Amino acid sequence: MKVLIIGGGGREHAIARKAAQSPRVDKLYCAPGNAGIAGVAECVDIAVSEFDKLADFAVEEGIDLTIVGPDDPLVGGVVDVFEGRGLRVFGPRKRAAVIEGSKAFSKDLMKKYQIPSAAYETFDHPSQAVAYLSRNDKYPIVLKADGLALGKGVLICNTHQEALDGVKLIMEDKQFGDAGDRLVIEEFMTGREVSVLAFCDGTNIAPMTSAQDHKRAKDGDQGLNTGGMGTFSPSPFYTAEVDEFCRRNIYQPTMDAMKAEGREFKGILFVGLMLTQDGPKVLEYNARFGDPEAQVVLPRMKNDIIEVIEACIDGRLDQVRLEFEDNAAVCVILASKGYPEGYVKGLPIEGLEAFQGKEDYFVFHAGTKKFGDEILTNGGRVLGVTATGRDLREARQKAYEATAWVDFANKYMRNDIGKAIDEA
Ligand code: AMP
Ligand code: GLY
Repeated sequence: MKVLIIGGGGREHAIARKAAQSPRVDKLYCAPGNAGIAGVAECVDIAVSEFDKLADFAVEEGIDLTIVGPDDPLVGGVVDVFEGRGLRVFGPRKRAAVIEGSKAFSKDLMKKYQIPSAAYETFDHPSQAVAYLSRNDKYPIVLKADGLALGKGVLICNTHQEALDGVKLIMEDKQFGDAGDRLVIEEFMTGREVSVLAFCDGTNIAPMTSAQDHKRAKDGDQGLNTGGMGTFSPSPFYTAEVDEFCRRNIYQPTMDAMKAEGREFKGILFVGLMLTQDGPKVLEYNARFGDPEAQVVLPRMKNDIIEVIEACIDGRLDQVRLEFEDNAAVCVILASKGYPEGYVKGLPIEGLEAFQGKEDYFVFHAGTKKFGDEILTNGGRVLGVTATGRDLREARQKAYEATAWVDFANKYMRNDIGKAIDEA
């Protein structure tokens, strides 16, 4: 098979590495890819937003299967464009990707189908939101821009004034652009957060092993929200009982709800969960693999990812048994100092060769670029250093050991990825 992966971050590197291991794959392409992905796939210089060019390439090269990584093209309808051209593609159609593209949609869906989640209200005008806040006396409260905002459109407001400022920022100043045309105001929940990614074939849903992300930029969950500064898998808090509850009350009901709405969901559903005192509740849905969740989940997966994806497309996921190694993985993101705000790019990266030939260490490239013989930093999140181990403690110790093998001038990382393990 010839396989094309759309995207160019650490998540796509993890998908590409896994796909390259499949005996069914003869040739792997990635658009646009990055310097690390170039080690396992041929990179094609087409942006993820250029749907027609991507489809033209797939037709010309006789691509048998395309896998879409990022949220933007999915929400924008790249799957519909590919299907319209008779191409085989893995990911939700636009009608289904709205589960990530609109928080108001996903909240309404959960309410209608009684899927546990935080209480909320939706607003189209800032004045309505302000009026609502004047009646509210429970803080913190959570403000969410309705649309895609690079994972940054969520504000946790501790006071009435902060909430008013947040409404202005999202709905009037349009800090997150059109994503702020609507606003969801949500009850604040407390508990452990867990990410569960699941393969979906429209009818059946097969959850993968659990993971936990660290969204804040600084140690101790301080600082701004980022795309994710590190992950570990599995989550010790995601017990068999929690899994059983989620399968019955969240995962399958979500599949059924989307189908009932005429929005059959095929692809990867990412369920962000909060394990509250009243049981697991949905924080958010995403319509794709998480980044950097994929970097700890996929290295632990035993199945041939291409076979599982084909089963999803063909609607026979019920015949597949997902299997994961009985081990653990930790991923520490090496970022550019200053991320998620301003930072410098184009700095040379040293030491990447140290990962060669090591089975349980991986360096996933997130924002890198080849320049002659050098590999340069090319983004806020630069590399994802993953290690596997017998248990979380060993995996964490190995991942942090490996972060020292690579260096670039403005290298920044959190030092407490997986610290929660010690409390389990
Ligand atoms: P989201 O993009 O919806 O996952 O939100 C980003 C982060 O904000 C989550 O990972 C949570 O840490 C936090 N968050 C979102 N919604 C809530 C909520 N209702 N209560 C508490 N924290 C939340
Ligand atoms: N790591 C969170 C996300 O991919 O949205």
